[in-house]
Amino acid sequence: MSVLNKRKILVAGNWKMNNNNKETEAFLENLNVEFNNEKVEVLLCVPYTNLGVALNLTKNSNVKIGAQNCHFKENGAYTGEISPLMLKEIGAEYVILGHSERREYFNETDETVNLKLQAVLKNELKAVVCVGETLKQREDKITKEIISMQLKKGLKNILEEHVKNIIIAYEPIWAIGTGKTASKEQAQEVCEHIRNVLGEIFSKEKAEEILILYGGSVKAVNCEEIFKQKDIDGGLIGGASLNVSEFKEMISIANGI
Ligand code: 13P
Repeated sequence: MSVLNKRKILVAGNWKMNNNNKETEAFLENLNVEFNNEKVEVLLCVPYTNLGVALNLTKNSNVKIGAQNCHFKENGAYTGEISPLMLKEIGAEYVILGHSERREYFNETDETVNLKLQAVLKNELKAVVCVGETLKQREDKITKEIISMQLKKGLKNILEEHVKNIIIAYEPIWAIGTGKTASKEQAQEVCEHIRNVLGEIFSKEKAEEILILYGGSVKAVNCEEIFKQKDIDGGLIGGASLNVSEFKEMISIANGI
């Protein structure tokens, strides 16, 4: 838990393909919640079309704004894509990479996640790299192997100096949008494993600095026990981040830990 170490608690919302500009405006106008920035960080990853409004409305606040994906090239003939350079230019600070929905519906692989991560880090953005197993993989008892592989391939050739801009999100696919949260023990066990693998990839000391989030049906009623786990440093929150009162409650809970 972040009380025992120097890591912050990151309360991150992933809005996915939800909310228009008007709704974004209303949400941010209502997101008037106090938190200690030394201890808690708040992030909202919004659709590309809402980035302008969100960045404008959070200019004078400590709420961070991010995107949910990007391409691995800075520019070029890639119709429909958005580059990390473009995100950087408009002032976005974070980008989610390798979300399971992108892996499932848009052919994202560990290799493309790695290319994107390199491009994101080169452009001095922070990356939230998602990993997680399917229900079948959990039942086959290969969760740790799957996670190790996603991390080793996804983080291949990443320099230690860039570690400060990497956040890992453990999102078991069976817990996303299903209302089924991993138990705090299940979540902690995998997040501890993630930290060990990060220790092998970088160094034990570096691994201690990296924020590891849990995602999958996190809400106000269950976030406290999750955020209190030794190797869990916050949440990547989907559905519950669309409700401003609930999101505020989760920030307050994190602030009180
Ligand atoms: P839910 O919180 O809706 O389960 O979504 C989790 C998620 O995918 C966040 O990236």
